[in-house]
Amino acid sequence: MNKKKSFINQKKNYKGSIKNICCIGAGYVGGPTMAVIADKCNSIIVNVVDIDQNRINAWNDPDFQKIPIYETGLVSILKRTRGINLHFSTNIEEAISAADIIFISVNTPTKIKGLGAGKASNLSWIEKCARQIAKFSQNKTIVVEKSTVPVQTAEVIKTILNSSCPPNSSKRFSILSNPEFLAEGSAINDLEKPDRVLIGGDDQESIEVLSEIYKTWVPESKIIRTNIWSSELSKLIANAFLAQRISSINSISALCEATGANIKEVEKAIGSDRRIGNKFLKAGPGFGGSCFQKDILNLVYLCRHFDLEEVADYWEAVIRVNNYQKNRISKLIIQKLFGNLNNKKIGILGFAFKNGTNDTRESPAIQIVKDLLNEGAQINIHDPKVKPSDIEKELEVEQYKINIINKSNQNYDGTWVYKKTIKETIETAHAVVILTEWDEYTNLDWGELSKKMVKPSWLFDARSLINFDSLKEVEIFSWQVGNGQT
Ligand code: UDX
Ligand code: ADP
Repeated sequence: MNKKKSFINQKKNYKGSIKNICCIGAGYVGGPTMAVIADKCNSIIVNVVDIDQNRINAWNDPDFQKIPIYETGLVSILKRTRGINLHFSTNIEEAISAADIIFISVNTPTKIKGLGAGKASNLSWIEKCARQIAKFSQNKTIVVEKSTVPVQTAEVIKTILNSSCPPNSSKRFSILSNPEFLAEGSAINDLEKPDRVLIGGDDQESIEVLSEIYKTWVPESKIIRTNIWSSELSKLIANAFLAQRISSINSISALCEATGANIKEVEKAIGSDRRIGNKFLKAGPGFGGSCFQKDILNLVYLCRHFDLEEVADYWEAVIRVNNYQKNRISKLIIQKLFGNLNNKKIGILGFAFKNGTNDTRESPAIQIVKDLLNEGAQINIHDPKVKPSDIEKELEVEQYKINIINKSNQNYDGTWVYKKTIKETIETAHAVVILTEWDEYTNLDWGELSKKMVKPSWLFDARSLINFDSLKEVEIFSWQVGNGQT
């Protein structure tokens, strides 16, 4: 029997166990999530489809070298499943019509224009998906919201889908919310051992069908069933609470620097109270990633919609503090370098929004590097996983060039260039700024590295990676986030 037979030949078989899943969107959420489902449920055919042919080609890379998402353990899973019961393609129409369950995992960025610009999510990708599902699906199909969506998006999907079902048609839809809580960098572990699986909906039968898939590897006690709105809202609130902790600790990092306290000691002291807990208490350059800011903006928008102004202001402050943290780091670097960065070389260590991922979305490095470019700095950027082309997209300016593809009309005076090694990044620099907590930045020999730098040289450690005792004999000025002794 040819195990690799195409999904197109798979018959729908909703009554009985699920045979065929389609996931629309082969991104950070869709790709790893479907890989794990395919790995755990060998009898289910999983088709991941995307409109982006390049992304699909990368997922299908024969040597597994160009897989578009870097996650520990992902390639091993792909080696076991890809081409067997996991397929990546752009055949959206066929994949939808063959599916018993369709996961929507497309992007939902913040709107950049129109009503709710800068706050509401842009649902155009979700809406397009719903219209495609309405057109191509057959018989009963369970449609699952996987992307983080604003509360009541299910209603939009439901309205579009139901309007495609004439009274005597065999087409029927059941809409569920099943938000994904994976964090990038630990995606596979989070998917294989989730704290919980949340399924919201009003059709109990469909909820159970989806639970059956998860129960293959997740204990029943970890599966939480709610109504659809609670599920959508819980996802926003989980992210808002996590982001709030980061803004709280970052705000205190500024106070520690002003008073001579040390944020690491404060983190330890408060984190050992079990009611507070020690997770998500690391001060840094501010949170990034595709979710936190977007979800809080959504929450704020929702609160204002319901005239809950005080509640909206409260959550908005989490973002204000996050911006404050990035701004104060840029300012501090400029001030320490005598208020003048013209023609000064600055080495940036880390561009990803955190370690363990190649993702740069909303990375604090973007704003900080833009601020330094505005001051005329010449910037070397190193990151072990981020591609120079992604840095270019985020900064909106090509390497070496000034104001060439800059869409936001920022007329930088400085230039930037990608460096392959840490050594090259630091050589002849006036200052080094650590922005991502990659392991390779932890135990650098600053005694040796600083010899190659321009004097007086500076080390700005925005991730608390460096043991400052080790710098005592080194001829370098230093600043560390939240460390009032530096
Ligand atoms: C987050 C949520 O954790 C996850 O549950 C959700 O599904 C998606 O959003 P992710 O964006 O991948 O995941 O990263 P996360 O590990 O939460 O970190 C977000 C940002 O906060 C990063 O920029 C990170 O550096 C920063 N952070 C995190 C801190 O500055 N300090 C901390 O203690 C923890
Ligand atoms: P996330 O972090 O939520 O997974 P990504 O941006 O990484 O977001 O991935 C979303 C993917 O969804 C992208 O690869 C994009 O091309 C894809 N996509 C968006 N709209 C559609 C659509 N209508 N049909 C198929 N794929 C889509």
